Amino acid sequence: MDKLLLRGNGPLRGELRISGAKNAALPCLAATLLAREPVHIRNIPHLRDITTTLELLGTLGARILVDSQLGIEVDPRPVHSVVAPYELVKTMRASILVLGPLLARHGSAEVSLPGGCAIGSRPVTVHLAGLQALGAEITVQEGFVKAQAARLRGTRVVMDVVSVTGTENLLMAATLAEGHTILENAAREPEVVDLARCLTAMGARISGAGTSVIEIEGVAELHGAEHSVLPDRIETGTYLVATAMAGGDVCLKRTDPGLLESVLLKLREAGAEVDAEPDHIRIRMARRPSAIDVRTAPYPAFPTDMQAQFMAMNCIASGSGVITETIFENRFMHVSELQRLGADINADGKTAVVRGVPRLHGAPVMATDLRASASLVLAGLVAEGETLIDRIYHLDRGYEVIEEKLSAIGADIHRVSSSRGAA
Ligand code: UD1
Repeated sequence: MDKLLLRGNGPLRGELRISGAKNAALPCLAATLLAREPVHIRNIPHLRDITTTLELLGTLGARILVDSQLGIEVDPRPVHSVVAPYELVKTMRASILVLGPLLARHGSAEVSLPGGCAIGSRPVTVHLAGLQALGAEITVQEGFVKAQAARLRGTRVVMDVVSVTGTENLLMAATLAEGHTILENAAREPEVVDLARCLTAMGARISGAGTSVIEIEGVAELHGAEHSVLPDRIETGTYLVATAMAGGDVCLKRTDPGLLESVLLKLREAGAEVDAEPDHIRIRMARRPSAIDVRTAPYPAFPTDMQAQFMAMNCIASGSGVITETIFENRFMHVSELQRLGADINADGKTAVVRGVPRLHGAPVMATDLRASASLVLAGLVAEGETLIDRIYHLDRGYEVIEEKLSAIGADIHRVSSSRGAA
């Protein structure tokens, strides 16, 4: 099993290219199941979650072609199965995204229930209640959600909680429903908007994506299309925080500052100079960051997927900051690992008070989930001595060639196989 070895190495300088957003690529790939023709998706990041999704689409029978620019064409015509097996779903909860498309296009779907995960219980009741409202018959048997509906019927759905993948599943299902659907209390995340763009290119009739009320006029069928996935705002934010912590001058290319305004605001509050241009962001940091308070909430508020990275920044900041996590009940697992590096954090329930220390010290640590792993990489970049991060398969789920990107801007970071240990 691979590990990452980091040594604190001073300021970061140079340019990086931001990848396509994982959390938009996943629903867009699932959406291809709705079409009657091949759909071509570009700017797909090279990540383990994407490989898992392609494996899942392949298991269902779809034909997948990867072009020279890492664009992916999915031909859904040979799909012959509507069963998403446990072996794949357990490795990636977002597999639940095939439920809506399979049901809408094929009249039935069987998707293994994803179960809990490291950061919380993560129910899918919003997905199921919404599909039921659209006329599906749903049962849970032997760990599988089994859904059936000859044709879904448009209706008004008020979602109990703001759920990103819940909104995406219902949005996809409603594109082929008979009549008009109104999704209320919808997630407003940019990835939902990107999915709506992809579906619209396929012939869907959608308005209001990016607001809390999305309206869909069902159509009889969806056709082939081309779509390019939007930039990854969480990857962007992670490299911005890296620079704010290590200091330096870094330009992130092929991103969009409009996707992460709440994050840019917090970085400026911490003392970074941030120049936001339409397709790139330059960050300069010449001093120790100031600690800041962060409260996570659905978009456009501060993203839970950036919480761990900002906690890492507070660890070496001047002053104290309070981090409040309102989305997931168990998303502080990085706390005890950061403490191993010398961080001063007092976590209680949803709140963590972080008192900045002048210096962290390298140690062996363990990645526990995707964004927690990112916070350990950031801490390792500025810690004195060596930090060895174990279980980095979590990172490989969501960050494309993280060690290459960070090395390119001057970080001392290497991937080592476990047989070499900390050598
Ligand atoms: C998505 C993102 C993930 C991000 C999260 C919150 C993808 C593939 N993943 O996950 O990176 O951290 O949004 O921004 O896009 N909930 C319920 N009932 C439900 C569904 C959700 O109570 O039926 C709760 C969850 O437990 C959580 C909150 O709603 O507390 C938000 O979860 P949700 O938006 O559904 O997260 P995901 O879509 O799984």
